[in-house]
Amino acid sequence: MELDLRTVMRHFATGVGVVSTWTEEPSAPGGRRHDAITVNSLIPVSYGPPLVALSLRHGSVFLADLLTSGFWGVSILAADAADTARTLARPWEVRAGALRTLAASPGPHTGALLLDGPGWMECTLADTFTAGDHLMVIGSVVATGVREAQNPLVFLHGSLAPAPAA
Ligand SMILES: Cc1cc2nc3c(=O)[nH]c(=O)nc-3n(C[C@H](O)[C@H](O)[C@H](O)COP(=O)(O)O)c2cc1C
Repeated sequence: MELDLRTVMRHFATGVGVVSTWTEEPSAPGGRRHDAITVNSLIPVSYGPPLVALSLRHGSVFLADLLTSGFWGVSILAADAADTARTLARPWEVRAGALRTLAASPGPHTGALLLDGPGWMECTLADTFTAGDHLMVIGSVVATGVREAQNPLVFLHGSLAPAPAA
């Protein structure tokens, strides 16, 4: 039987986040070139110490920046942020343009951009493991925040949709 992991995983609902980082670039505003991508592979892996994992595709432009900087921010997206999720899944030129207009502020510990949404965290690089065509990136969580009044966005059956009301 042929394994079809993508098809079976369509039935597994996840939240949706935006991961951001920046690298030094003298010609960029403030000397920092920011980038951010949409992810649904965020998982908590340990609470003491607090660690999270991301699975990022080998060859990703964003992954190269993250490995250079060694830190990143994660913004959990709100139910009304499906357009943002789609835009930040596009090539880096498109993402760079979008980041100039999206409401975002630098995280206090890393300077990585944090978007509005139900919650956020800042991480520093703790470890990496190659896993097939992706790299598992483990981050130490150095700061967190929640804005609980906001309903989150969910990825299920290949679509982005609001989470059912709590
Ligand atoms: C809902 C959703 C979830 C995604 N999750 C991941 C993910 O967990 N890991 C990943 O590498 N790419 C993920 N992507 C794709 C990235 O957002 C983006 O398209 C990719 O990193 C761009 O490659 P680049 O960094 O080479 O430009 C996801 C896209 C969408 C729409």
